[in-house]
Amino acid sequence: MRRPFIAGNWKMNLDRAAAVALAEGLKEKAAGVDYADIAVCPPFVYLDAVAQVLKGTNVGVGAQDCYFEGNGAFTGEVSVEMLQDIGCQYVILGHSERRHIIGEDNELTNKKVKAVLAAGLIPILCIGEMLEQREAGQTDDINAEQFFGSLAGLTADEMKKVVIAYEPVWAIGTGKVATPQQAEEVHANVRKLIESRFGKEVADAVRIQYGGSMKPDNAKDLLGQADIDGGLIGGAALKVDSFMGIIEAAK
Ligand code: 13P
Repeated sequence: MRRPFIAGNWKMNLDRAAAVALAEGLKEKAAGVDYADIAVCPPFVYLDAVAQVLKGTNVGVGAQDCYFEGNGAFTGEVSVEMLQDIGCQYVILGHSERRHIIGEDNELTNKKVKAVLAAGLIPILCIGEMLEQREAGQTDDINAEQFFGSLAGLTADEMKKVVIAYEPVWAIGTGKVATPQQAEEVHANVRKLIESRFGKEVADAVRIQYGGSMKPDNAKDLLGQADIDGGLIGGAALKVDSFMGIIEAAK
């Protein structure tokens, strides 16, 4: 049985006071949750403040990106070691906003995944198709390309530690959620991809989150699907009550 994992991706939102207040609210409200893993991923500049609030609690902290080199002349970048130093356990990688707005490709994402694993942190690797790709019947091909490209060269032991987030781009921030059946179909296919490369034991162990307009009122149906093991939440993670509503739907 895979343990549900609900993570909040705060993206480029909030200010310092609001980030700390949200972390404090979650620390209190999520304290009794023993049935799921929980994490929040604030913007880099607020990571340290949020990590201090959540230290020793059941709410983990993740970054939204990182660089693959350890240190040196990489202006503007943040290394995995730095994230580890302030208490991060997770790093979101290959998010569609980084792929499609910033222009990151599978090769760069793959280097980052390997750096995160080498440091003992957990990558949350995002994959997902755009609307025109879905409409052209390319959903499985796009997900396979991002999956194999971003996870090239991993061992089975490394793969077991990876969390996948399936985020159909057309459902992100649009209020247009994938139906539980649409999402489950892709999740089951992604699990088959894992099995084809890493074997059944690994495929059965890896958690696959759904992301894209997940809210308290649609979370239960999505999380009730056999291959949906959690959520990567954007907008609804910015308020204690709506994030808690999704966490409680994972019970
Ligand atoms: P929304 O929940 O706002 O659609 O964002 C999903 C997402 O991109 C999480 O990484």
